Amino acid sequence: MSLPPGPRLPPVVQIGRWILSPLKMLEECRARYGDVFSFKGFQGRHFVIVGDPALIKQIFTGDPDTLLAGAGNAVLLEPILGKHSLLTLDRGEHLRQRRLLLPAFHGERMQTYATSMRDITESSIGRWPLHRPFSLAQSMQDITLDVILRTVFGLERPEQHGKLRTDLVAMLDIAANPLLLFPGMLGIDPFAIPWLRLTKLKRAIDDQLFAIIAERRRSPAGGTDVLAMMLAARDDHGEAMTDIELRDELVTLLLAGHETTATSLAWALDQLLANPPALERLRADLDAGREEYLDCVIRETLRVRPIIPLVGRQLARPYQLGEWLLPAGTQLAPSIYLAGHRADAYPAPDEFRPERWLGVKPDPYTWLPFGGGVRRCIGMAFAQFEMRIVLAAVVQRARLSLVDGPAKVVRRGITLAPAKGRMVVAIERAAQRTAAA
Ligand code: HEM
Repeated sequence: MSLPPGPRLPPVVQIGRWILSPLKMLEECRARYGDVFSFKGFQGRHFVIVGDPALIKQIFTGDPDTLLAGAGNAVLLEPILGKHSLLTLDRGEHLRQRRLLLPAFHGERMQTYATSMRDITESSIGRWPLHRPFSLAQSMQDITLDVILRTVFGLERPEQHGKLRTDLVAMLDIAANPLLLFPGMLGIDPFAIPWLRLTKLKRAIDDQLFAIIAERRRSPAGGTDVLAMMLAARDDHGEAMTDIELRDELVTLLLAGHETTATSLAWALDQLLANPPALERLRADLDAGREEYLDCVIRETLRVRPIIPLVGRQLARPYQLGEWLLPAGTQLAPSIYLAGHRADAYPAPDEFRPERWLGVKPDPYTWLPFGGGVRRCIGMAFAQFEMRIVLAAVVQRARLSLVDGPAKVVRRGITLAPAKGRMVVAIERAAQRTAAA
């Protein structure tokens, strides 16, 4: 049994570098070892990073009972998401939950969420200070958190959020610290340490979520939010989701959908502000009612600044990947970053060139910001729909300028984000549109 040639650095150095500068490590390893390389993680597990589109296709179209996504995710995420999360489940249980959630995320459902997304964005822009630096990343997080609270949890008005919003922000801020990844990697549950503030927060949040679920069960008034659809969903045996399942999926959707979308939005604006001709073209097209370039900007942002550098599949049994026979337990990691930065697929891969997407459909094995196969991001349509609404509103209603030079990529929780929250100044901002306008 042979593993692909790869760096065999001492595990602590390897994991440390991976956590602190993942993109640099990926680039250097590809330059040295090619499209497939491996390294040894804690507990002797091998990670095989894959940047070759043909092998990525093999993995994404392979047997999901052999290529497990939940088992790998669970190592880090189960303490916070629980045992019934779409992200941590595999096999039949994953399929069941995915079927229950899918209807709420179908493309045609998106129009239902459009008004909320627009209102939240408009009022957020209306609160931006003029001529004073503020954090783009923070503003985008405020928008995407409110969007999830309204469209997923069904909390329409701020007074309904109660303590929940404050507690969630506090939990997400703590979870954003990359050092929190270490206990998970060592097999220690970071929430098991009773004195951690996180443990208390998690309990407080769970209590509030169970109260929301109980209230919605008592008065099943319908509603158009994701929770309403989850409450109404039935599996093949006519069974509804339990309270624990609902809790775990609500936290999953929040964790998977809030910061990911916010950080991608911050990168999109960062790239546009650093490329004035692209920004001007986008503004002109939107003013003329054309949206194709907006889609190109979103696709190019997700390619050039992917917020998640790779996805994971853990082998349930020995597996042949190309020329290598890999042992059970190996973690395969198709790399979103490496696949999207191939010069043969994307000339000048480090440059932000939205035009490259005009009239072009993304290839699912080089453009994979949402992963692939049966585990592809369930929020893919939701995220792109929200990005369209928020970007169009910001570009049409505000004039921003960057405070610093090019932004360094830093790790924030599960995402790769622009350093220092990407500070900007609003030079101009149009008044909020009224309902009649
Ligand atoms: C730009 C924003 C987003 C990006 C880049 C993103 C990216 C990803 C990626 C890479 C995966 C793993 C896919 C795989 O293993 O093949 C994933 C899974 C997932 N995402 Fe997203 N995501 C985004 C937004 C959202 C939103 C808005 C939601 C929901 C509101 C969401 C919910 C999920 C869920 C539940 C999964 C697990 C799917 C499964 O295992 O079946 N994501 N996402």
